[in-house]
Amino acid sequence: MGRFYVTTPIYYVNDAPHIGHAYTTVVADALARWHRLAGDEVFFLTGTDEHGVKIQRTAEAQGITPRELADRTSARFAEAWKLLDISYDDFIRTTEPRHYTSVQAFLQKIYDNGDIELATYEGLYCVSCEDYYTEAQAVDGHCPIHGRQLEHLSEDNYFFKLSRYEQRLLDWYDAVPDAVLPPTKRNEALGFIKQGLQDISITRTSTRWGVPVPWDDRHVFYVWYDALINYITAIGYGTDDERFATWWPVVHHLIGKEIIRFHCVWWPAMCLAAGIDPPLQVLVHGWLLVGGEKMSKTALNQIAPADLVADFGVDAYRYHFLRDKPLGPDGDFSYEGMVARYNSDLANNLGNLLSRVATVVDKKCGGTGPAPKPDSPLAAVAAEALAASTAAWERAAPNEALEATWQLIREANAYLEANEPWKADPGPAVEAVLGDALEALRIVALLASPALPSTCAEIWRRLGLSGALDDQRVPEAAAWGGYPGGLRVEKGDPLFPRLSA
Ligand code: ME8
Ligand code: MG
Repeated sequence: MGRFYVTTPIYYVNDAPHIGHAYTTVVADALARWHRLAGDEVFFLTGTDEHGVKIQRTAEAQGITPRELADRTSARFAEAWKLLDISYDDFIRTTEPRHYTSVQAFLQKIYDNGDIELATYEGLYCVSCEDYYTEAQAVDGHCPIHGRQLEHLSEDNYFFKLSRYEQRLLDWYDAVPDAVLPPTKRNEALGFIKQGLQDISITRTSTRWGVPVPWDDRHVFYVWYDALINYITAIGYGTDDERFATWWPVVHHLIGKEIIRFHCVWWPAMCLAAGIDPPLQVLVHGWLLVGGEKMSKTALNQIAPADLVADFGVDAYRYHFLRDKPLGPDGDFSYEGMVARYNSDLANNLGNLLSRVATVVDKKCGGTGPAPKPDSPLAAVAAEALAASTAAWERAAPNEALEATWQLIREANAYLEANEPWKADPGPAVEAVLGDALEALRIVALLASPALPSTCAEIWRRLGLSGALDDQRVPEAAAWGGYPGGLRVEKGDPLFPRLSA
C-alpha cells in the first residue's frame, strides 16, 4: 500500500469558481478516487488563497473588508466542489491561524539559515499576477498574461536568495526526471532556471493584508510566499512532525501552466532552503479556452460549473473534462463537443449496455443475473482494460484510462450484438452470454468510478452487488469472475437519456 498526497492550487477569492478551476479540481479528485480504489492511503487538499493586494483592492471596490470577500468567495468554492462531488480531505484557507503558524515557522527557518535578506526593490508589478516583471518580459508596459498596465513599485523588501539555488535545482531536475510532467512543461521550468535566477522579493509593506513577518512586523509576506506554504500547513508543518513526515514529500501538485515558475522553481528552492525535500511531482496542465481565449473576468467569458451541470448532470460533467481534455495542451471548450461525447460514450455505450443487459435478464432470466463463464472471450478484454487503465491512472492520464475502460464497454456491446441473447430462447446459452455482460459491467463500474462516482455506485446497486463500491479494492476486485450470479438485477430508468444538440 502506498501513499498518495494530491493538491490543487488554492484559488484566489477575487474570482468566482469557473470551469477552469473545476477542471484542475475534478482531475485531482479523480486521481484521489483512483488511488483510494487502488488501496493507497490518500490525502487530497484544496482551498483558497486569500491574501494580497489584488484581494484587498477587489474587496475595497465592493465596499467590504478583505475578510468578508474571502469568507464569501471561499464558501462559493466549497459549494462548487460539493456540487461536483469533490472528495477532498481538507479545504485550507490561508487566513486560518494554522496557516499563519506554519508560514511563520517555515520562513523563520529560511531566515535563520541566512537565505533571506533585506534590500530595496524596484520593478514593474502586475496586481493580477501578484508578481514583478522585467522590462523585457513586459509587453509595451503591460502584463504578458493579463494585458493590464504594469505599476512601478519601489519597496524595502526582504529577499529570498533564489540565485543561490540555481545549481541545486538543476541537480534536482537531473536526479528526478519526472519531477515535472509532462516533459514539455519540465523543459519550460528548466528554461527558467537556465536563464539565471534573480533573488525574489518576499515581503510587502504596501499592504497589511498578509501573514506578518515574525522578525519584522512592518512587513507582511508576499501572497505567493504564504500561498505555496499551504501545501505543508495542511499536513502539520511546524505543528505535527509525525503527520508531516507521513505526507511529505509524497505529494503531487496539480497546477495550470501559468504558475509553473512558482511551483517548479521557487517552491522547490524554498523547500531546499528550509531543509525539507522538494515536492515529489508537479503535474502541469494547459488552459481550458472558451472561444480560443483563456477565461477571465475582463473577457466576460467565464462559464460556471453549475450551468453545465444543470444540462448534463454531475457525472457527465466530470466525464467530459476527464475524457476530452488531456493534461498538457490547451483545449477549447465546446458545448457541442460535450453533447457529442455524452451521447456517444454515456448514452449509447455505457447507458445502453446497462439497460439492454438489465432488460434481457428480466425477460429471459426472470430478473436474476447469471454468473459469467470463466473462459469468456470478454475475460481477456477486461484484463486488458484493467491493465491499461491502471497504468494510465498511475501516470495521471485520465483520458487514456477512460478510453481503455470504454474499450471494454464497446466490446461487451459487440459481444451482445454478435450473440443476440434477446432473440434466443431462455436457457444456458443465453445465461452464459448475460453473465459475461454483467461481469463486464461490474468491472466497468469499478474502473469508471473515479470519473463517474454516483453512476457507478448506482450500476453496482442495480447489478444486485452487495456492499459499497467504494469499499472494493483493485486489482483484486476487478479480476474476471467476481460476479457471483443469482443476484436480483434491477432495470431502472436510463442512466443517461440522449440529449439533442
Ligand atoms: O493562481 N484552464 O489562483 P487562481 C485551466 N492563487 N485551468 C484553469 C483555468 C483555465 N482557463 N483558469 C484557472 C492562483 N485554472 C494562485 C495559486 S497555489 C499555491 C496559488 C486553474 O485562482 C488552474 O489550476 O488564479 C490554475 O493554475 C488555477 O486555476 C489558478 O487559479
Ligand atoms: Mg490566475
